[in-house]
Amino acid sequence: MAVERVHRGFGRNYSGFIKIFSRLSYLLFSAGADFSRLLLDGLRIGPSSRVLDVGCGVGNLIADIQKKADSANPGAALFAVDRSWEMIKIARSRLSAGPRRVYFVACDALNLPFKPESFDISFTVLFLHHLMPEPKIRVLSECRSALKNNGTIVLMDMDKPDSIIGMVLAFSRRHIPMISSNCELGLEHFFKAAGLRAKWHMKKLGIFSYYRLEKL
Ligand SMILES: C[S@@+](CC[C@H](N)C(=O)[O-])C[C@H]1O[C@@H](n2cnc3c(N)ncnc32)[C@H](O)[C@@H]1O
Repeated sequence: MAVERVHRGFGRNYSGFIKIFSRLSYLLFSAGADFSRLLLDGLRIGPSSRVLDVGCGVGNLIADIQKKADSANPGAALFAVDRSWEMIKIARSRLSAGPRRVYFVACDALNLPFKPESFDISFTVLFLHHLMPEPKIRVLSECRSALKNNGTIVLMDMDKPDSIIGMVLAFSRRHIPMISSNCELGLEHFFKAAGLRAKWHMKKLGIFSYYRLEKL
């Protein structure tokens, strides 16, 4: 897998590099705002909430979710999924030694190993642009099925551009089908096909979309 090849290439410095790189990229994706705040503000994590982060990568977001949940409700259960053990190892090392345990699952997000209607909130952040069009819909359908009926999916990724900066960024990535499909078809195309609709939407730099979705 590409991630593991890069990891071997960088050797021991990889973990430090990727942590810094991912935080710096968050500054771009949020146009200088606090990325995790854009994703988490206003979301209620209650005492019995169950929260899922799909494609958790190096765990920036799940670490911030842990902080939010710990200060609000130490009873909530947090789950993070990635198909790469390397990513999960790094993500695990980010977590604070608090009361909360985060349950990591190494699996393919195209087949999530959770019962239907298990989660109150599910995050799919900077993940869909790693997939071809059909798998994007499949992952969103899996998230939908694992979501409680009144639950929320937080989706953040590159979208159809509607600004000059957005168009330049999309043009620069046009040779990568996993990304160009986001920019040409738009995220709405994928989440509608998965039986979801937007209840809130915001865009940064005319290309990075932040959605809160619910079941249709
Ligand atoms: C850009 S990273 C995710 C970033 C992370 N959500 C964050 O907010 O920092 C994309 C991750 O998706 C994972 N991934 C790619 N394809 C996957 C699949 N089919 N199932 C699960 N994880 C996958 C990769 O291993 C990688 O860690």
